Amino acid sequence: MKTKTLFTCQKCGFQSPKWLGKCPDCNSWNSLAEEIQVKGPSHIVPSTGPGASPVSFTEITGTAEMRLSCGIAEFDRVLGGGLVAGSLILIGGNPGIGKSTLLLQAMDLVGKSSGTVLYVSGEESARQIHLRGARMGVTAKSLYILAETSLEKIVTQIQKVKPDVVVVDSIQTIFTAALESAPGSVSQVRESAGRLMMVAKGSGIPVILVGHVTKDGSIAGPRVLEHMVDTVLYFEGDIGHPFRILRAVKNRFGSTNEIGVFEMTDGGLVEVRNPSELFLAERPIGVSGSVVVATVEGSRPLLVEMQALVTGSPLGMPRRTTIGVDHNRLSLLVAVLEKKVGLSLAGQDIFLNVAGGVRLNEPAADLGMTVAVASSHLDKGVDPHTLVLGEVGLAGEVRGITQPETRIKEAAKFGFRSCILPSGNIKQLKIKGMELVGVRTVEEALERAIG
Ligand code: TYD
Ligand code: MG
Repeated sequence: MKTKTLFTCQKCGFQSPKWLGKCPDCNSWNSLAEEIQVKGPSHIVPSTGPGASPVSFTEITGTAEMRLSCGIAEFDRVLGGGLVAGSLILIGGNPGIGKSTLLLQAMDLVGKSSGTVLYVSGEESARQIHLRGARMGVTAKSLYILAETSLEKIVTQIQKVKPDVVVVDSIQTIFTAALESAPGSVSQVRESAGRLMMVAKGSGIPVILVGHVTKDGSIAGPRVLEHMVDTVLYFEGDIGHPFRILRAVKNRFGSTNEIGVFEMTDGGLVEVRNPSELFLAERPIGVSGSVVVATVEGSRPLLVEMQALVTGSPLGMPRRTTIGVDHNRLSLLVAVLEKKVGLSLAGQDIFLNVAGGVRLNEPAADLGMTVAVASSHLDKGVDPHTLVLGEVGLAGEVRGITQPETRIKEAAKFGFRSCILPSGNIKQLKIKGMELVGVRTVEEALERAIG
């Protein structure tokens, strides 16, 4: 068998016969690694038999997907209502964020509700998993742990155990003997995932893959798998914060906007049923620069506090620092405040933070950001029971947002009494106990909020 080598980008999978410093496909530096390619790959089986035959659309049976609950309501919701039979799910996230913890807890619950689970770990020994699990109260008898990294042996065990769910933690530790490249390289990761997909589709067993996200690209990231799998979830959060957000970024069987919120505790992850309460818990009341906005993630509204700090800058080029919102968005809103409202922010450092480690990428948070910056700059607090919603345009106009009712109702639940919102949104709205203040421009909004 003739072998040749190819250089493969460990981030995106781009291949080149020559080494390159920069990947021309995804523009990452120093991400190409040499991999041995086996000519006439053993994994591509030439189709000889008759294969599948076309079926009329109306004759396809079993349209109602079979869903298996994974025991954790937040997890189920992000999946779109549970695990779909035969689906391949990828859970990505930074190392140490809690992926193994989440899956071990979920699989314990599946095991307890009479499902059989095969938890394959290439990272930890069975004893280590037991130690961790015992601390979290894992007791399921039908949860089987397999410490193995060989793909062939894993597939054999799946066929033997015939579990209801398989977890592979992590895909980057698994390797197949069919390829000579190292575990964690793009070709190994792809090939292993591909084989596991065939197992999933062929047997109807849902397979969950764990994928570490790496910054330096020394091992292949989950991105190279995103197009192959049915569902991609990311487990995010700040290691320094206890909150974790499970987010669907691709889902063939549900919405991609859903999020699940968890808190990391000594006893493992705990679902947060009421994230708004959590995110507002430590809010300082009546101080300048703090504004509450409502964002919608999938079907769920979320109240979050936005904090701005504006101070005179000792630097020639003042700082604009954001955490949780887009940096460019802040620059744009600051420009609007300067030009349309006449605030002088040029010599000011501006810091903007979304409390609790939440990320906001919705235009509906624009007006809240703008008001927070102005509030800090003028040192005038916003009424703590006022919600601020609206998108801001370059002319200083306040534009309508989506789902105003969902957002305002969530705020009403938490004792908010008034809401500053785009006047375009106000028409059909009527919410009990809420004063709705419609505004057309940023100037008008500032007058109502901190006037
Ligand atoms: P882990 O699930 O191993 O992360 P991943 O699989 O994504 O790499 O989580 C490890 C972190 O979680 C570790 O820093 C400690 C923390 N942790 C707790 O705080 N409480 C717990 O009960 C457990 C099991 C872990
Ligand atoms: Mg882990």
